[in-house]
Amino acid sequence: MIYFDNSATTKPYKEAIQSFVKVSEAYYGNPSSLHSYGAKSEKLLAQAREQMAKLLHVDAQEIIFTSGGTEGNNLAIKGGALAKRGKHLITTDIEHPSVKEAMKQLQEIGFHITYIPVDYRGIVNVEDIKAAITNDTVLVSIMHVNNEVGSIQPIHEIGAILKSYPNILFHVDHVQGIGKVPLNIRDCHIDLCTISAHKFHGLKGTGALYVRRGVKISPLFSGGSQEQQIRSGTENLPGAVAMAKALRMELSRQEAEFSRLVAMKSYLIRELCMIDGIILHTPEEHSAPHIINFSISGMKAEVFVHALAEHDIYVSTTSACSSKSKAVSQTLLAMSVNEDLAKRAIRVSLSYDNTLEEAQLFIVAVKNSITSLRKVMKT
Ligand SMILES: Cc1ncc(COP(=O)(O)O)c(C=O)c1O
Repeated sequence: MIYFDNSATTKPYKEAIQSFVKVSEAYYGNPSSLHSYGAKSEKLLAQAREQMAKLLHVDAQEIIFTSGGTEGNNLAIKGGALAKRGKHLITTDIEHPSVKEAMKQLQEIGFHITYIPVDYRGIVNVEDIKAAITNDTVLVSIMHVNNEVGSIQPIHEIGAILKSYPNILFHVDHVQGIGKVPLNIRDCHIDLCTISAHKFHGLKGTGALYVRRGVKISPLFSGGSQEQQIRSGTENLPGAVAMAKALRMELSRQEAEFSRLVAMKSYLIRELCMIDGIILHTPEEHSAPHIINFSISGMKAEVFVHALAEHDIYVSTTSACSSKSKAVSQTLLAMSVNEDLAKRAIRVSLSYDNTLEEAQLFIVAVKNSITSLRKVMKT
């Protein structure tokens, strides 16, 4: 099998699964319990938090464990906006639905949202963000790496601007960037930052939200006041320990294998662009090393995805959450890709587990599938 759908989710690291099993079996006490068995769990949770913080170069108190990217984004955006006095929020046209839908819900209760457009590469203009700020702005939410085309947003520059606006919270959805594109949370003056473990070989249903020390956000859940009263609910200790393990492994692979990933992506782009009828949507510069988005003119994306699956090769049409709804990619439309091509988009997303040999086999399969599907289309 060749698994090229790593932006949808990744295969958990064996070590992360082992940690999960070990902690589930040996430390099932509730970290909030008064007895010493619960205290052992509490200690382990604190250790996982310390490890996460160290890897992200932040403080342990700034890490809130969540159930993943969707929760992290909702908590940051709704929790951030509701804790503030103003009613204006800024985001982009190409955010993940967990950001867009959270914004829509806030709009329904009286918030005003400015959606910043992107250029043909899928990148915002920093000046547009600056120009959108009003006295009423309380939160700016910008993704680091786009999940469909891989474009990288100028987070450092945006943070430099927002630094002069202490009343505005800066939230970054770092779900697709972590482990692939470096981001220094502190240097970028980020207040809230979302990550999700299943995108870096941790387990599904685990994630973290960085909340800068001193930043107040309203909780989404009422309950037992865990996670510094920001995220009530008995903590997923095995998941948190497994996430810390996976993050450590992913970041060390990033250090050792980043250039290999870049070379694999360059090879794929070069080869794909030589195939008749393929139009590349991922920008060649300012894009992540693991995402490639393209269309094949005249070819239905679903048909092509199924044809590759016949070769035991797995890619996706758009993002995993919208691929079944058959909605046209809003990201590609925002990049001024025409609707016909946007409907035909295919996403290849890599991980450090993939090899150049797999990339070569993939290219052969793409060529063969196009040839045989075109033959069928002619008859
Ligand atoms: C950019 C981005 N943000 C948020 C999410 C949601 O993360 P989760 O699946 O952990 O809820 C995803 C998932 O695809 C994503 O790609």
